[in-house]
Amino acid sequence: MRILGISGSLRRGSHNRKLLQAAADALPPGASLEAWEGIAALPAYDEDLDDVPAPPAVERLRRAIEHADALLIATPEYNAGVPGGLKNAIDWASRPFPDNALRGKPALVIGASTGLFGAVWAQADVRKSLKFAGAHVLENEVPVGLADDAFDEDGSLKAPELRDLLRDAVTTLVREVDAPVEQAA
Ligand code: FNR
Repeated sequence: MRILGISGSLRRGSHNRKLLQAAADALPPGASLEAWEGIAALPAYDEDLDDVPAPPAVERLRRAIEHADALLIATPEYNAGVPGGLKNAIDWASRPFPDNALRGKPALVIGASTGLFGAVWAQADVRKSLKFAGAHVLENEVPVGLADDAFDEDGSLKAPELRDLLRDAVTTLVREVDAPVEQAA
């Protein structure tokens, strides 16, 4: 099972990249996470560019989502919302609507921030946009607050309750791919 991992943060030392790696480490056997690093290559969404074919970076994003069994997004929070690059990627992935690469795709959203609350607003916004685009978004929350001090040297989460939340969340995602639960209409 292939899970496409996207970090909403581009910076090298990103806590959200670390969180994605911790999620990858918590996956059950048979599932693997492949990080998608294309956010910075995407142009700003422009309907005039969204023709057939779309810009190459956009086509790569859409193909990567299509070929994945599920999505795992780790997002920071910028000014109480979603980082612009990540929202831009979701906007590109949402088209053509309604038959886009996201439709029906199981998706888990997690997040880390250096504030107290672990990017919960950004996570909620990402869930809302993914749902609107047609993805099958899990309700699991993994809010990693005070991220500067949240990870051990080996990249694992220090807090046992967060480790449990993360393990439960990725296990639910894998289960959702293996045996989808009917979505509410
Ligand atoms: C932030 N940060 C932040 N944190 C938060 O909890 N709520 C917020 O609204 C914001 N806003 C914000 C805006 C901008 C432009 C930046 C650069 C940062 C702090 C943020 O949580 C922190 O920089 C994280 O470390 C970013 O995630 P990565 O890069 O470590 O994954």
